[in-house]
Amino acid sequence: MSATLQFDEDASRRVEAIYLTPDVIEQRETILRALALEPGERAIDIGSGPGLLVCDMAVAVGTGGRVCGVDVSESMLALARARRPPVGSAPIEYQEAGAHTLPYEDASFDVAVCTQVYEYVDDVPAALLELRRVLRPGGRALVLDTDWDSIVWASSDNERMDRVLAAWEEHLVHPHLPRTLTRLLRDAGLEVTDRQIVPLFNAGYDPNTYSAGMLELIATFVPDRNGVSEAEATAWAQDLTELGPNYFLSLNRYLFLAHKPT
Ligand SMILES: C[S@@+](CC[C@H](N)C(=O)[O-])C[C@H]1O[C@@H](n2cnc3c(N)ncnc32)[C@H](O)[C@@H]1O
Repeated sequence: MSATLQFDEDASRRVEAIYLTPDVIEQRETILRALALEPGERAIDIGSGPGLLVCDMAVAVGTGGRVCGVDVSESMLALARARRPPVGSAPIEYQEAGAHTLPYEDASFDVAVCTQVYEYVDDVPAALLELRRVLRPGGRALVLDTDWDSIVWASSDNERMDRVLAAWEEHLVHPHLPRTLTRLLRDAGLEVTDRQIVPLFNAGYDPNTYSAGMLELIATFVPDRNGVSEAEATAWAQDLTELGPNYFLSLNRYLFLAHKPT
């Protein structure tokens, strides 16, 4: 079995719930600080998922701005379209489209963001050229992805944990993308101007956290992959939850800010 995670209705709802936890709200705040959006700017979110960042950006650029979201998942687009930004936000437009074929003219946007998406995309160099095409000269791009080698996750059975995590790496195309992103962004003709680490840290089990939600998503994905049975996946998840105060997860995402030369 080699199919990556499909963002169908069930997975999309799980991801939306995870992205509403305080951990991921804080991540979006970091992204917005790095973007430093100005009123009236035009922004695109490539792989906009449940539309949470799109709404935040629409608030930041205000009624004189414009925010567009594209995604390949109909389920994600349905969740995003159901989300209503507050009065005073920019108009929002969603389209079903992939990162390689953005349905916009050259130089349509001041800002392009792509968070937790390129790691699922086969041809990242081609997708970055497409991002560059829709940015105006001087426009900025923000890319954020996870390196799954950065994970530290306590378990009472380390051998099982290693097999589960190896099976989980099948959920995406590039589990270690950030370490190559500086080069890939430069090769696409973008100037990298800032790089930041965005850590996720959950110490003590709490259901309202990033990793408690991921635990359930992983337990549904890994059975019958890399020798992990359904019973083992369930036992793995139960073991972690039962660690209670000793529960420990640390995982890093990496944020890249880049500019299109004028
Ligand atoms: C993990 S979610 C991240 C969603 C959103 N960017 C966020 O950070 O809140 C990954 C999203 O990428 C979308 N996606 C995957 N491959 C894509 C592609 N080739 N083009 C556009 N979107 C894609 C998925 O449908 C899903 O909505």
